[in-house]
Amino acid sequence: MIKTGIIGSGSMGAGIAQVAATAGHEVLIYDNNPAALDRAKNSLLAILNKLAAKGKIDDRTAKAIFGRIYFVDNLLAFTDCGLVIEAIVEDLGVKKSVFGQLEDIVKQDCILATNTSSLSIAAIAAACRKPERVLGIHFFNPAPLMKLVEIIPAIQTDAEVVKNARLLIESWGKLAVLAKDTPGFIVNRVARPFYGEALRILEEGIADVATIDWAMTELGGFRMGPFTLMDFIGNDVNYTVTETVFTAFYFDPRYKPAFTQKRLSEAGWLGRKTGRGYYNYAEGAQNPEPNREKILGKKILDRILVMLINEAADALYLNIASRDDIDLAMTTGVNYPKGLLKWADEIGIQNCVEMLDALHAEYLEDRYRCSPLLRKMARDGKKFW
Ligand SMILES: NC(=O)c1ccc[n+]([C@@H]2O[C@H](COP(=O)([O-])OP(=O)(O)OC[C@H]3O[C@@H](n4cnc5c(N)ncnc54)[C@H](O)[C@@H]3O)[C@@H](O)[C@H]2O)c1
Repeated sequence: MIKTGIIGSGSMGAGIAQVAATAGHEVLIYDNNPAALDRAKNSLLAILNKLAAKGKIDDRTAKAIFGRIYFVDNLLAFTDCGLVIEAIVEDLGVKKSVFGQLEDIVKQDCILATNTSSLSIAAIAAACRKPERVLGIHFFNPAPLMKLVEIIPAIQTDAEVVKNARLLIESWGKLAVLAKDTPGFIVNRVARPFYGEALRILEEGIADVATIDWAMTELGGFRMGPFTLMDFIGNDVNYTVTETVFTAFYFDPRYKPAFTQKRLSEAGWLGRKTGRGYYNYAEGAQNPEPNREKILGKKILDRILVMLINEAADALYLNIASRDDIDLAMTTGVNYPKGLLKWADEIGIQNCVEMLDALHAEYLEDRYRCSPLLRKMARDGKKFW
């Protein structure tokens, strides 16, 4: 069992430490903020005790898992780690400096991974003398509960490193998908229209928040509507991801952020965590009822769904990931009720193309351009699955 090092003991680092220790690894966790490390220690102990109290694991197992996690105050403790996963602040300069330091400490064959959500893996790898051992291993929040992990090789990464990292992550009970080193990888790229198109529909005054959420959950089968989900994620966090992806894609209008969300974020209406977002979470607060008109609901669902399908098709077209991995990523990373490419087959590829072309004809915006792959498949009468 290789020893695993985790740098950063925030929500992701602590969660990943729990996953690795549960899989039987000895885990060293380091944070440059001693108070954060203390918080992680207390929260991991509380989580494991709670799992034991609920009967999900027995007491002995809980103690053994906790006993395998060492909270260390110096990176020098990482000398004999076989894998190190970095989960610190999302800042390229800081990450590069940490990777540079790490290389002087760990052994030659130690795999170095970053949990970054939005930075270039190639840029982080470039901070190392042996960039071929660096890759992205992207967990979802909360790491112990979310099955999906995106594995992202940089252009410098050795194929053997990717294979070994993947096997290891799968041995932790995770579903690994392979993604190209491009902004948002699979999930954070393909999911953008779920928020962006919902916001656009709201801004155009076609429907209100409650109605859009109702259409997506009741008619579409999504577990949460876009506005409920944005309030849950936090409008600050969700807005930042959108803006980062938009900038990273050289301002492709498909990913354009919405002023509505920016203003909510600026006002401090961040969602559940501040008691107010698109909805009011104060006790006894009255939130609007949706307009349950089927025709309107179907129009909302179709528009958001076809934009999601377009993203998924374009990700396949540009070889960001395989068909199977794109569908698996969306059903397990964000719990979509169906894989988007499978959904496209059900709706009919030709119908998807017609819906996108109608939006494009109406708005004359590049945002609504149909993926060349969808168009080609419609022409050839093909299906994804
Ligand atoms: N939160 C999410 O939903 C999520 C999901 C997937 C990936 N990520 C990525 O995971 C990483 C961590 O995110 P998080 O939400 O856990 O952040 P967080 O703010 O909860 O935790 C980050 C921790 O890193 C520590 N830290 C900062 N600089 C450090 C340094 N130089 N050396 C050691 N420790 C340092 C901080 O003290 C803090 O405890 C980021 O790259 C983020 O993009 C986050």
